[in-house]
Amino acid sequence: MMSTFGTFGDLVDRAKHRMRPSVCSLPGMGLAEEWLLNRDWKPVALAEPPGGSGLKPVLGDAGLPGLGHVIEIYRGGPEYGARLYQNHGPLFYAHNPGIPVVLALGPDATQIILANRNRDFSQQGWGSILGPFFRRGILLLDFDEHTHHRRIIQQSFTRPMLVRYAQHINRIATAVMADDWVADNPRFLLYPAAKKLVLKIGMALLTGREVEIASDEFGDLERSLAAISRAPGAFVRFPVPPLRWWAAARGRKLLEEYFATGIPDRRGGSGTDIFTVLCNAEDEAGNLLDATDIVNHMIFLMFTAEPPAATIASMAYWLAAHPDWQDQVRDESSRLGDAPLRFEDLEKLETLDRVMNESLRLDTPLLVHFRRTVRDTELLGHYLPAGTDVACWPSANHRLPELWTSPQRFDPNRFAQPRAEHTRHRYAFAPFGGGAHKCIGMALGQLEVKIVMHHMLRRFRLELPYPSYRARWDYSSLVPSDGMPIVLRPLNAHRR
Ligand code: HEM
Repeated sequence: MMSTFGTFGDLVDRAKHRMRPSVCSLPGMGLAEEWLLNRDWKPVALAEPPGGSGLKPVLGDAGLPGLGHVIEIYRGGPEYGARLYQNHGPLFYAHNPGIPVVLALGPDATQIILANRNRDFSQQGWGSILGPFFRRGILLLDFDEHTHHRRIIQQSFTRPMLVRYAQHINRIATAVMADDWVADNPRFLLYPAAKKLVLKIGMALLTGREVEIASDEFGDLERSLAAISRAPGAFVRFPVPPLRWWAAARGRKLLEEYFATGIPDRRGGSGTDIFTVLCNAEDEAGNLLDATDIVNHMIFLMFTAEPPAATIASMAYWLAAHPDWQDQVRDESSRLGDAPLRFEDLEKLETLDRVMNESLRLDTPLLVHFRRTVRDTELLGHYLPAGTDVACWPSANHRLPELWTSPQRFDPNRFAQPRAEHTRHRYAFAPFGGGAHKCIGMALGQLEVKIVMHHMLRRFRLELPYPSYRARWDYSSLVPSDGMPIVLRPLNAHRR
């Protein structure tokens, strides 16, 4: 396989990562953010509670005219959420012009919304954010229909399937690192490289087909998925070339065609990949799933390459910034030797597990979870009318000083006994969500991340591009703003 590093496509891709204009990177945005954080806005109430209910109104404000709190959210991410919680308590009404939303902060609000005991909260809140590009993906289905579809998809995430997936992940990860990753080069960007790798793994596991990274087919899929995954952060939410919404509409069309053409061959097939499983799943009346729904599920499932790639980039960064932890994790990996990592080996990698959790805490890939109230309801003594969009914010809980000691610090031992800070509240640590929609790919995601990190650390020493380098995340796209330059220094056995 030929390395894609240095090809024309790669140069364009890296330039985009480095020069992507967003509220995070435009000059002067740091000062604007500072000014906004220190302003008091006119209070606005979401709605008057019914008389005699004893409920309080949810209060908030409209923020900057035309922009709301977009700048603070996109630049500050979880830090801004934690600040809101400390200043306003668990509920804040962000009366944004585009999507007015109640921000539900703190672990109690997260627990009530995600556990959703009375089925007060529907997934339709995601609909306003994700737009039409993920329509009827499993995350957007509700209640009984969701349970039916989740049971079908679950067949591909059982333990025996994970044991089998581990073999493919080892093989693909080692091959891609050997052939496509470039050592000793400060221009190498870890995030896009990890994303290509995770997407290749995802395609192999979810569709049963392996596609070369250097091929046009891979490039088309990668671009289309990137376009639809950037759409949620779009400020202009209608198709204007070359803006995000327009690019996402083109990407969605290509993906629909790609998966629709794969269905006839898989109907009646015996493959165990999720694409074939979906093509042959029947409901109680013996009806096959609609082709449109199969396409919808496949598009959503392929989009899930983003969180593992972000986690790998985050872990590589923290380990490059903390060489002592890097050595510890590598020593632990070295004890397992050169053989492919098996599913049952994972529990031996305790330090890697702690580092992964700490990276998920600090750089939680999914910033907020959206829901919508299906009826008038109450949340922590506040009144929420039917149809209110609510965003619960586990990533902000990950930064609260009442739950975590020195929350800004990279300190993986906080996950070990006797500290076990993640147990201070049931929802203190929830990078994979909770309740009926808890990440179905949690075990697979962790497997991928750990196998990739294991091989990366056996092969390379990870270094920051320069000593004072600090990673910066773009919370409008949930990716590292600069693609995360990490220098890979080959370890002796892998010098070429
Ligand atoms: C580090 C890796 C990952 C993280 C942090 C992550 C995070 C999450 C979170 C927070 C949710 C819940 C969203 C909500 O309730 O609003 C979710 C749902 C989901 N994730 Fe993941 N995810 C990861 C990897 C994966 C992988 C590898 C797959 C599949 C290949 C996957 C498939 C899904 C699916 C299908 C759902 C929707 C489940 C449902 O609605 O029933 N995820 N993920």
